[in-house]
Amino acid sequence: MAHRIAVVPGDGIGREVTPEAQRVLDRCGEIWSFELEWSLFEWGCEYYLNTGRMMPEDGLEQLRQHEAIFLGAVGYPGVPDHVSLWGLLIPIRRTFQQYINLRPVRLFDGIESPLRKASAGELDFVIVRENNEGEYSEIGGRLYRQTEHELAVQQSTFTRRGTERVIRYAFELAQERNGVLASATKSNGIIHTMPFWDEIFAQVSADFPEVETGQYHIDALSALFVLKPQSLDVVVASNLFGDILSDLGAAVAGSIGIAPSANLNPEREYPSMFEPVHGSAPDIAGRGIANPIGQIWSGAMMLEHLGHPEAAAGVVSAIERVLGETSIRTPDLGGASSTAEVTDAVLGALNEQA
Ligand code: NAI
Ligand code: MG
Repeated sequence: MAHRIAVVPGDGIGREVTPEAQRVLDRCGEIWSFELEWSLFEWGCEYYLNTGRMMPEDGLEQLRQHEAIFLGAVGYPGVPDHVSLWGLLIPIRRTFQQYINLRPVRLFDGIESPLRKASAGELDFVIVRENNEGEYSEIGGRLYRQTEHELAVQQSTFTRRGTERVIRYAFELAQERNGVLASATKSNGIIHTMPFWDEIFAQVSADFPEVETGQYHIDALSALFVLKPQSLDVVVASNLFGDILSDLGAAVAGSIGIAPSANLNPEREYPSMFEPVHGSAPDIAGRGIANPIGQIWSGAMMLEHLGHPEAAAGVVSAIERVLGETSIRTPDLGGASSTAEVTDAVLGALNEQA
């Protein structure tokens, strides 16, 4: 039976890298005998400029009919970022209870990290970001606009259920990997929600005695990402902290252009969504030079979720070979190849596994 996938290329380079990644995933289907049935949804900023909405009113209903969502990037100059984010991405993540945002960070052979001492193989960890609540909240408001008394309040929300489930997921993942879990906190400065986070972390940790845990204030943890990334295995963080850490992680691994992510509903009651960490990159959009690897690797995470681990591993090893054994790469990685040339090289490496 075919997997029904909703594809939302979105804006900017999202429209360039998404079809390239689809070529790779379709080829995987031929090699490993499964079928992907894509439905294309051309939603995003252009749609907004024409209709006043980022997606149709029944957009979520339409997406709901699919097994997974494959997304490029949304947001473009001309539409304020909070409109594009809250009009498309955040409703999908929340309505579909995609409360895990999984963001692997890995330095590949053949890529130079800006960190002088990091080498491939040593830098290999996963960020588990809470994706539904926390600091990204609609609760709050502004008063006395445009006066000297003007004020803004933004409320964070941390629920026991939301906090516990993301922490538990991270412990389970650490158990499957190398058994080391770091928690991002800031309980010295943020004195209500962060001690709550820490308490729940300690409670859940009792169920995983074999996992070695560390608890770091977010500022110190950011420094650790740069000074000793080798010590990291799984990192669990709230919505905002996880967002920031994953851009830092992508940077130390060489380029945001290769970083993938999965927005997971682990119970599979709703479709999960797979998208690169990067945005629509208006500065390079339309030039055919966007790095497609973040989108392709996100596609590999989707294949894993759909129950095709051998295809997922095949895609990652094809990426590994292109980066490790050739000089084919886009300008963000210091190369001169185009988006399509990099995709072709990945397809070539994949074909050798057929
Ligand atoms: P960005 O990730 O689009 O770009 C940051 C820098 O990285 C730029 O210099 C860009 O050229 C480069 N870059 C990003 N992806 C690349 C790739 N695949 N290959 C080569 N270089 C790449 O972040 P920025 O500029 O802050 O945001 C641009 C727009 O994208 C905004 O409207 C923002 O709201 C949106 N955005 C959307 C996200 C999403 O859909 N999940 C995530 C981040 C930003
Ligand atoms: Mg981000």
